[in-house]
Amino acid sequence: MAQSRNADGNGVPPVGGPGAVSLALTVNDITRTVRAEPRLTLAEALRGPLGLTGTKIACDRGACSACTVWLDGVPVCSCMILAIEVGQRRVTTIEGLAEGERLHPVQAAFVAHDAVQCGFCTPGMVMSCAALLAHTKQPSADAVTAAISGHLCRCGTYPHVIAATVAAGAETKGDGP
Ligand code: FES
Ligand code: FES
Repeated sequence: MAQSRNADGNGVPPVGGPGAVSLALTVNDITRTVRAEPRLTLAEALRGPLGLTGTKIACDRGACSACTVWLDGVPVCSCMILAIEVGQRRVTTIEGLAEGERLHPVQAAFVAHDAVQCGFCTPGMVMSCAALLAHTKQPSADAVTAAISGHLCRCGTYPHVIAATVAAGAETKGDGP
């Protein structure tokens, strides 16, 4: 099999950095190029050069899920992924859920069920609950509990988050958002 070679011809892939490199990131269906050092996490790239501050960084070590976004529709902790690792995968953030003025059903249910206090965990919670709704018709309270099991809410909104997501599932009747 043919093997790509760097300038030295030794088969070692070229290394980017440590200075800034150009990255093309597709976020909420828009592809933008940013200049970032390879050490930048996806969470930092979103909040910094891309200006999407809805994604929160709390622990910055994969322990709280506050920074949850979707990669190709799958919830992930964006503080645990380097921006340079994202490649062609589609990123969806909390800013990409609503359609214009119309909130995503999970967002609307969070408001209706008072599932927000300080709000720091909320974008990540919403992303995980919305992903659940996208793949599970009318999820049970147990299913929601499992979906948010990695999320820490210091304000204790869990019962409201669960009730909101169950209600959003019932309201959409499993048709998904
Ligand atoms: S900020 Fe990413 S898991 Fe806590
Ligand atoms: S609403 Fe405050 S941390 Fe969850």
